[in-house]
Amino acid sequence: MCGIFGYIGPSADKARASRLCLDGLKKLEYRGYDSAGIAGILDGKIQSSKQVGKVALLEELLERSKVPTGATVAHTRWATHGAPSTGNAHPHFDTDKSLAIVHNGIIENFQGLKNQFQNGPFKTDTDSEVIAHLISRAYSGDLLKAVKEAVELLEGSFALAVVHQDHPDEIIVCAHESPLAIGKGDDECFIASDAHAFKGQNLQVAFLSHGEMARCSRDHVQVFNSRGKALDKPFLSLNLKDEILSKNGFDHYMLKEIHEQPQTLQQALDGRYSDEFGTAQFEELKFSAQKVKRILILGCGTSWHAGLLGASLFESLARISSQAEIASEFRYTNPIIDQHTLVIAISQSGETADTLAAVREAKAKGAKVIGMCNVSHSTLTRESDHVVFLRAGQEVSVCSTKAFTSQLITLALLALYFARQRHMSKEDGQAFLAQLKNLPLKVRQVLAHSKAIEKVAIKYSSFEDFFYLGRQYMYPTSLEASLKLKEISYLNAIAYPAGEMKHGPIALVGPALAVVALCGNQQTKEKMLSNLMEVKARSSPILVFASEGETLFDAVATDIIYLPSICDELASIPYSVALQLFAYFVAVEKKTDIDQPRNLAKSVTVE
Ligand code: F6R
Repeated sequence: MCGIFGYIGPSADKARASRLCLDGLKKLEYRGYDSAGIAGILDGKIQSSKQVGKVALLEELLERSKVPTGATVAHTRWATHGAPSTGNAHPHFDTDKSLAIVHNGIIENFQGLKNQFQNGPFKTDTDSEVIAHLISRAYSGDLLKAVKEAVELLEGSFALAVVHQDHPDEIIVCAHESPLAIGKGDDECFIASDAHAFKGQNLQVAFLSHGEMARCSRDHVQVFNSRGKALDKPFLSLNLKDEILSKNGFDHYMLKEIHEQPQTLQQALDGRYSDEFGTAQFEELKFSAQKVKRILILGCGTSWHAGLLGASLFESLARISSQAEIASEFRYTNPIIDQHTLVIAISQSGETADTLAAVREAKAKGAKVIGMCNVSHSTLTRESDHVVFLRAGQEVSVCSTKAFTSQLITLALLALYFARQRHMSKEDGQAFLAQLKNLPLKVRQVLAHSKAIEKVAIKYSSFEDFFYLGRQYMYPTSLEASLKLKEISYLNAIAYPAGEMKHGPIALVGPALAVVALCGNQQTKEKMLSNLMEVKARSSPILVFASEGETLFDAVATDIIYLPSICDELASIPYSVALQLFAYFVAVEKKTDIDQPRNLAKSVTVE
């Protein structure tokens, strides 16, 4: 995880390097925010500052301390090895602080490498610090050479940036299964874990490929391959406009993003369907669904939940055998993939290390990959054979909301696209499309129930333990809904297929446990009712979410929220929006840091 930023430019404006680094780190905070630090060269010495907590706290510290001016590197951390502390914050140094490194990734063989140093020079609990000592040991005047020698010893994933007091005009960078972008400006050079941190600058940008290194100075960047051969790397102009982020009057980005969903769903639909042919259309896809015999969906967290729902849609609408796999597990199963398997990798950020590793494994086995992603210029968009964008706009809140519903609607469109190329009739396609086009309105109707949802959220916020139950499409929906509650309210919320309760989990049911029942699927509603009866008999309060006009659940519900009705296949979208609101209002009661909850990061760049 973690975000790296670096800058070298003219030294006339003394505060420019740190100002730009702080600005860049703020844009990278989605990658982790438990500590931040900066190091550069001042009067021939490494000057550094580190702070526990968010970048804003580092900014305050820099107002009171010396600011580096020469080549400068900076870092925002999500702790992997070692607690979030000032000591463990990056940059890390060699013994006499002649060099500083910032690192994103994990050094898997760090312990063995540390054991090579007899005198125990280590001051931190991190895996990263050893890199500084390895470079220092290899250094004899040529920083690039020393970094190359050190990097050859490392196992794991890493992007690195290194500055040395003897080289005030250069930053050495390298990338190994972790992203690193270099931006060339007018007599200045930037580096970052993500090109979006360059927003607002007019730069020519290149992305280092796996194994590449670069020597960056103000006016020249030289990229090398892993054997040290100089490359002629193309630098491209990216259209990265600086957006002014605003909560638009909402208390949190999460609430703003929940309320944006009628619009983001509409954006996902725009231009992607034909009423006349009752089908979806994707300009970005040019292949025949006839050849696809199996669909494998890969993703993590919320994106995996979307994948579970997508797999059901592909099977039910397009009759293509489909599965969704958790990307971090998939790689280690020696998966069976042939040329008729289509892989869909879902990732809001396009930078999730587990998903990228799974994509590489699938490609190594010959699969074609569609990347479904929200962020342009991300690693997933570069590595996929085809890219379908989610068009949800920037999601700032760490807890994903609008990206999830955009994933669902895009998967539903894709399922329709495949179904119509196979055996779905035009009339059935038109009927499904009509329901899809109705979703923005249905979600607007859900948002109109905010007050009622807030009221039940306040009531249920006194519980410590929750079961989220659903059947059919409502089961993955309950997985996602329970994840929202866990993430932002820190309460224990477990999702179960309602029919599984009697096979064990029902032992936990009782008055101290709240059950949230997602009753949005018609096909299984009677079965759902029986499962809830079993819960009611054991005295758990039951908060039911059901379709307007449905009276079946009145007998079991302690509280009930009615939502607009829609076909079973698409009910997950309005229900998810209602459950996002529920989690949000519980978290408001709990007074948590809703947009940046503890221990989390928006982009999970370590495996
Ligand atoms: C939950 C959440 C995470 C992400 C997961 C994958 O609200 O945001 O579970 O869904 O880390 O991230 P992406 O979609 O960027 O690959």
